[in-house]
Amino acid sequence: MKTIIEPFKIKAVEPIRMTTPDERQGLLAAAGYNPFLLRSDDVLIDLLTDSGTSAMSAEQWAAVMRGDESYAGSRSFERFEASVRDVVGFTHIIPTHQGRAAERILFSCMCAKGDVVPNNTHFDTTRANIEHVGAEAVDLVITEGTQPATLHPFKGNMDVPALEALIERVGAARIPLCMLTVTNNSGGGQPVSLQNVREVREVLRPHGIPLYIDACRFAENCYFIKLREPGQSHRRVKDIARELFSLADGCTMSAKKDAFANIGGFLATNDSALARQERDLLILTEGFPTYGGLAGRDLDAIAVGIQEVLDEDYLRYRMASTAYLGEHISAAGVPIVLPPGGHAIYIDARGFLPHVPPEELPGQSIVAELYLEAGIRSVEIGTVMFGRTDPNTGREIPGAMDLVRLALPRRVYTQSHVDYVVEAILAVFARRSSIRGMRIVEQSPHLRHFSARFAWR
Ligand code: F0G
Repeated sequence: MKTIIEPFKIKAVEPIRMTTPDERQGLLAAAGYNPFLLRSDDVLIDLLTDSGTSAMSAEQWAAVMRGDESYAGSRSFERFEASVRDVVGFTHIIPTHQGRAAERILFSCMCAKGDVVPNNTHFDTTRANIEHVGAEAVDLVITEGTQPATLHPFKGNMDVPALEALIERVGAARIPLCMLTVTNNSGGGQPVSLQNVREVREVLRPHGIPLYIDACRFAENCYFIKLREPGQSHRRVKDIARELFSLADGCTMSAKKDAFANIGGFLATNDSALARQERDLLILTEGFPTYGGLAGRDLDAIAVGIQEVLDEDYLRYRMASTAYLGEHISAAGVPIVLPPGGHAIYIDARGFLPHVPPEELPGQSIVAELYLEAGIRSVEIGTVMFGRTDPNTGREIPGAMDLVRLALPRRVYTQSHVDYVVEAILAVFARRSSIRGMRIVEQSPHLRHFSARFAWR
């Protein structure tokens, strides 16, 4: 059969509240044109994020009932630790309430003021946590990874010569660790090849620089490896994942993505001295090392989810549904990051609205229009998220790209939902020449995209 179906049936449903275009005008204006400030009840199709929004399986809900809520040494922790270790292989598995908590603990223990941390592309919280300890976050994705229309099977790869040059320039002593984000979320959900991980490791090894994986979407990345990397098609995704992690010294993970959990994460390492330091900090701010800020039931949901995500029927459907959205809008001329990523489609806002310069936030305009058109919530990943306002001139300093991310929650929407999204995007695209830019009217100094307010130009 050619048709790829959702490999599940639906047991519980959540109604969607319909809104009219007129209502949405008022709702979006009240939210300062920032989708983060909308109520979810006022959203028809929520593509803001794939994080914590997965539908859990019947097995996960059953596991929730088995949760052992003991403060110390719970059975839930034992199941969590065994299941996570089975996939990632690291010696120390430290639960945290989500990915950024793992990041904060990792960078607090490993980085000092003046240090430099390379990554293919840092996610916003990763960058912010590095900068918070006074270190510098450097993005070293390959050139193709910053060109939306350029085709490359592994656009998330790190630029290995650039990594060598960075080590040469700042000196290995100032680089406490190197990270690889799989898939590369801020760069379009693009995968990193096993070969690239090996090459990065070989560059780091003589300098004794540890390699960490930001593993949020590791299963999607490993499925791309299976599909695209020579010599990998016969392997189980789980075995590819194990090899990927075996090339690293540790990882951070948001279980809200490729573990189908609504909350949770972990930090893992093979370094026992470091793990002791990390657990001490964990106790201070997250909780005892056998729960790390999570309920026992959450640990059980992750234990089941991190295995389920490796099911290849699921991964095949997941990639097919994301590609379906990408291919339908791309075929109609909408510029997107190609090829389609794993968890999301990224519209190239500069190509979509060529008459709106980056300083006028073309991505934010498209986000607003998709909501007004059809109640779809998306997010800008561009100048609002990664640029800044020049304090002297008041002008916007643009980010590397201006993208609009349409992130697909896992196992939540069906093909007709996606057809609706395609129709809405094409309707906005048809009237693109009349769409104006936006300006920021209010912003906070850190992670401004969450709370900024906007107005049309
Ligand atoms: N790393 C990457 C690559 C991420 O995409 C995220 C979260 C994190 C770390 C932090 O994890 O949210 O559990 O603290 N990304 C979400 C998103 C929020 O919408 O892409 P967290």
